[in-house]
Amino acid sequence: MWHHPATQRNRETMLQEGKCFLGPDEGTQACGEFGPGRMMQPEQLIAELSHLFVAHSTHVPLPRRCAANFPTMGVNQRLEDIKVLITAGPTVEPIDPVRYISNPSSGKMGYALAQAAKELGMNTTLISGPTHLARPDKINTIFVQTAKDMYREVMNQIHDCDIFIAAAAVTDYYCQNIATQKLKKTGDSLQLTLTPTQDILLDVSRLNTIPFIVGFAAETEDLLKNAKIKLQDKQLQMIIANQVGSPDYGFNSDYNAVTVMTSQQQTALPRQTKLQLARCLIEIIVNEYIAQKIA
Ligand code: PMT
Repeated sequence: MWHHPATQRNRETMLQEGKCFLGPDEGTQACGEFGPGRMMQPEQLIAELSHLFVAHSTHVPLPRRCAANFPTMGVNQRLEDIKVLITAGPTVEPIDPVRYISNPSSGKMGYALAQAAKELGMNTTLISGPTHLARPDKINTIFVQTAKDMYREVMNQIHDCDIFIAAAAVTDYYCQNIATQKLKKTGDSLQLTLTPTQDILLDVSRLNTIPFIVGFAAETEDLLKNAKIKLQDKQLQMIIANQVGSPDYGFNSDYNAVTVMTSQQQTALPRQTKLQLARCLIEIIVNEYIAQKIA
């Protein structure tokens, strides 16, 4: 039906009148046929719609929607010239061909940040561990599995980015001796020797030329104290501290609540959806990036 000449004629007429089309998606139709004609996923529709309402001039004034304590620069910056690299989701470390060590990161926070950056027209690249989320539309996305893969892809991209946001929950340890066959259940206890993974953020901060680096801190206790230690130890420009361990926010929730910290100040952003929060965070990050650039 979508390919029918009458449908296509009507579409052409509407396009000439300046109407905008979202979709259709491809897939199995109600009649049993396969092809274009399905409604886009509601989340994708909402994302595309919100994108349509963002200014598209080449000089977009930096937005200030979240009234955070960061300096209003009043600078017009070509947002599409800012390249942002974002990591998202978990990494997984195999122990045998069918089992692995990982964590409950869903990728929602990192994908929301990529979406928010794209909405502002920023040049966005996402490096994602394995998630169940739909592949982000119109965002350059690189999929990885292990911490080593993520490390390699970040290092491949890092020299061509202005802002690096590490939202991924990278595994801290990996199994060096991966069993070649499925480990048998013997009834005895099993000992695994785990080796620390390389810290991506730390190694990025040690490069000769560094982008504006934003880390996340996922903590179950002493949130601000531990986040501050990570900010200093990993030599970050900014860290986003989030409490984890509750289904109401953090890992795998649609919601999050964070405190944004730099060496100078800290701002708490209350619980809201990850996309709302991501929009605030991207604004804060861009403002701070500009502030440091012109300082
Ligand atoms: O994916 P969601 O379900 O939406 O959940 C979002 C989240 C809770 C995963 C996210 O908001 C978050 O907190 N991400 C960071 C999780 C984490 O690994 O925190 P950490 O405190 O262990 O690590 C600190 C920072 O170092 C992080 O930016 C991490 O990406 C980085 N890191 C960690 C280990 C490593 N080998 N290399 C790294 O770069």
